[in-house]
Amino acid sequence: MKPTPVSSPAGISRRNFINAATAATATIALGAPFISRAWAAAGAKSPYRNLIPATRKVRLACIGAGGRGYSDLTGLANAGAEIVGLCDVHFSRASRAFYEHPNVARYRDFRQMLDEMGGKIDAVCVATPDHMHFPAALMAIERGKHVYVEKPLTHTIGEARILKAAAKKHCVVTQMGNQGHANEGTRLAKEWIEAGVIGHVREVHGWTDRPVWPQAIPWPGKDTRETKDDPATLDWNLWLGVAPAREYIPNIAPFNWRGFWDYGCGALGDMGCHTMDAPYWALNLAGDCKVTADQEGGTVVCGPKASTITYEFPARGSLPPVKYVWHDGGRIPSAPVELGADGKLSEGGTLYFGDKGILYSPDDYGAAIKLLPESRMKEFTHRPPKKYDRVPKANPHREWLAAIQGGPVPGSNIADHSAGLTEFVLLGNLALRAGKPIHWDSTRGVCAGLPETQILIQKNYRVY
Ligand SMILES: NC(=O)c1ccc[n+]([C@@H]2O[C@H](COP(=O)([O-])OP(=O)(O)OC[C@H]3O[C@@H](n4cnc5c(N)ncnc54)[C@H](O)[C@@H]3O)[C@@H](O)[C@H]2O)c1
Repeated sequence: MKPTPVSSPAGISRRNFINAATAATATIALGAPFISRAWAAAGAKSPYRNLIPATRKVRLACIGAGGRGYSDLTGLANAGAEIVGLCDVHFSRASRAFYEHPNVARYRDFRQMLDEMGGKIDAVCVATPDHMHFPAALMAIERGKHVYVEKPLTHTIGEARILKAAAKKHCVVTQMGNQGHANEGTRLAKEWIEAGVIGHVREVHGWTDRPVWPQAIPWPGKDTRETKDDPATLDWNLWLGVAPAREYIPNIAPFNWRGFWDYGCGALGDMGCHTMDAPYWALNLAGDCKVTADQEGGTVVCGPKASTITYEFPARGSLPPVKYVWHDGGRIPSAPVELGADGKLSEGGTLYFGDKGILYSPDDYGAAIKLLPESRMKEFTHRPPKKYDRVPKANPHREWLAAIQGGPVPGSNIADHSAGLTEFVLLGNLALRAGKPIHWDSTRGVCAGLPETQILIQKNYRVY
């Protein structure tokens, strides 16, 4: 077994981040997509750099190897990646990954891993808590590594814009871990809406049963969970990373960090990149908008117990103005009468209201969709043609690895899709935390007339 490298004190410097932020503000190109998926159909060559020949495996390093990171690395290994590096700040939490990959180099600090392993890594999977996605992904992208980054792509909108610029500049293959984007239902929703099956869509509702972790509390408090993880193997300074220095509190890691603004993005940030993905894609929910949040129990440090967040978009090209309403914490939209006798909505899902019908996705991840009422769905036999490429086995891990070996551009790549989707989602948190309606100026990346929100759009970083 390889010796365990210790953490490097060398930090991500504040200057690096400020430089990156400035550069990105100057270079973010809004508008035309970076790469068209049509290239694949036309038999075009991959637009990416640093491609790996099909004669060898993609060498993958994983940052965050417990929790979701374990699922990702297992999925990626099953899809053909060779795991060459495992990094986790909490060795006990990562023990299953270590056990299953005994001869792979182990690290606590991703900076040290990327420095030391350098050319031995082709691609990196980032599955840390949200606040560390950006530092880890940016460092990997700037070294020319392909990245798979868990959702939400970043902790702030400013970070999403910087990563978008970096992904374009370094031309690496990227994918966000909103696996529902690869689903058939997500494609059908876009195809049916674009074909006018439900007419012009003017209102959409999305909802989730989250949070299922502490929110609406003043501070973490006592941890009553049973855990097998040994805190003695956790490097808390590295876990905090760029977040403010704070004494170790067990009720934050693992998992419960989601509710605390310094580390997570609350219920909306946790589920929005799944549930809001199909509406964002089908209806082009980007650009200037007004966002208003109604919430219960949110505190300065923590997301609310429940919220309803309304996004209002003006006309976009030929699309009419549309309202997107998000509900969480037990709040759900009124069930339309067209739902039928049972009349009960799923625990998470989406309802699209068009002037010629209603589309219902009874699933957090957009896996399935149907027209309401059921009789309309039964009559719906002449369906629009399939316009968008399908992802083999709806597997986003395989899709990303295939792109690294010269295959089609991944659907939830940062430059074309997931940075914009993350921005759409996180605007809701901006309205929640501003405590008043925000008017998003998408060209300047600011809330008009609310300079105090700037620190939420581009936060400060601790040098650690
Ligand atoms: N796509 C999905 O369906 C899905 C599901 C669950 C979680 N997620 C996302 O995955 C990410 C992780 O969530 P989780 O539930 O696994 O959290 P978790 O707290 O359970 O696990 C995170 C893992 O990362 C490690 N870690 C923390 N900071 C690190 C750092 N700086 N460097 C290396 N390792 C670090 C932790 O020790 C732990 O092993 C989140 O962004 C979350 O939103 C996605």
